[in-house]
Amino acid sequence: MSTSVDAVAKVDATFLLILGISVVVLVLVTALMLFFVWRYHHSRHPEPEHAGESWWLEVVWTIIPTVLAVGMFWFGWDSYQALRAVPENALEVKVEAYMWGWNFEYENGRRSNILYVPQKTPIKLTMTSRDVLHSFYVPAFRLKRDTVPGMQTYAWFLPKEQGDYDILCAEYCGVKHANMLSTVRVVPEEKYESWLAGELDEEGKGDEALFETYGCTSCHSLDGSEGVGPTLYNIYGKTRILVLPDGTQKEQIADKAYLRRAILYPNEELVQGYEALMASYEGVIPEDELLRMVNWMANQGVGDASLGRQVAEDQGCLSCHSTDGSDVAGPSFRGLYGSMRVVVEDGAEKSVVADDAYIRDSILNPKKILTKGYGELMPAYDALSEEELLALIDWIKTLGVPPSK
Ligand code: CUA
Repeated sequence: MSTSVDAVAKVDATFLLILGISVVVLVLVTALMLFFVWRYHHSRHPEPEHAGESWWLEVVWTIIPTVLAVGMFWFGWDSYQALRAVPENALEVKVEAYMWGWNFEYENGRRSNILYVPQKTPIKLTMTSRDVLHSFYVPAFRLKRDTVPGMQTYAWFLPKEQGDYDILCAEYCGVKHANMLSTVRVVPEEKYESWLAGELDEEGKGDEALFETYGCTSCHSLDGSEGVGPTLYNIYGKTRILVLPDGTQKEQIADKAYLRRAILYPNEELVQGYEALMASYEGVIPEDELLRMVNWMANQGVGDASLGRQVAEDQGCLSCHSTDGSDVAGPSFRGLYGSMRVVVEDGAEKSVVADDAYIRDSILNPKKILTKGYGELMPAYDALSEEELLALIDWIKTLGVPPSK
């Protein structure tokens, strides 16, 4: 019999013992109480009488509770010892808790946000927290241990059977405490090895999965919905109002340099309207992964399968207009909508805002309102259907808005 069978069995035995004793005591006390109420009611017992000393009674009611208390303590102590005695051959996994998720780091540096473990191998968890107190809780393994910033705690368990087991946070840690739900995934030894070697992706996803791995998605949605932090959906090229540590504000276009700073030093430039809840990822995300994440944000929308995007591809718009802010033959679509354009109309220069009407005109009759600095290269796309035109304009709108100056 392995030690872990002991640990889990001992915890359960202790629980049952205490439960059993409590039930017996509850029943006994309640029954006696009812009996006394009946027996010593003043109708049956009008004259109170003095009960004398009883030596044996005192001994009995001292010894019985002492035996019960010491017995419960002994079982508790024994199971606690089993929970704390990590087997020599245990596989070590580092656990970092943060608001609001878990990060697991394995022996070879691989990270994940669900805990992968090989079956039938004792696992030692070395735990800490990045921000506030959390508590690593896996009921299936009778495991609960606080994670404390600046301190290491540990726990261990033996996953006997394959399957998914819930991980919860058992320490109230803020508004998204309940979101700290994760999974212990127990897989066969060989599968664990190939997963660890990176041959198997968690869910077969690309760089998008990094945002889950590092827990970004618990606060930042990827689909535009509101979260504790700003959504990452089409964040690239958008204008942010930032609040600096001294309270001053500045406008900033979300370019690659900004996105990188926002991940590494989130509280140096806080987006207006959001709280300083995010911890720095400096030293947490390796450089190559950080680049992939920033690039993923910059290229978002490019893989968008919307009709507007389809029209832009079919009509060849993208050979002259980039979606990433770079200049090709024509102005980039990124950040176009809402920006101020200096256009040349009938030989005269004027400033206009790139609103729906402007974009429509410049597609249908590009030579009439030519953006200053660009040549008359673009043909009129007046063969587009109204539906295609609207979809195209809508799609351009999603590619970010420039500073409102
Ligand atoms: Cu972390 Cu509650």
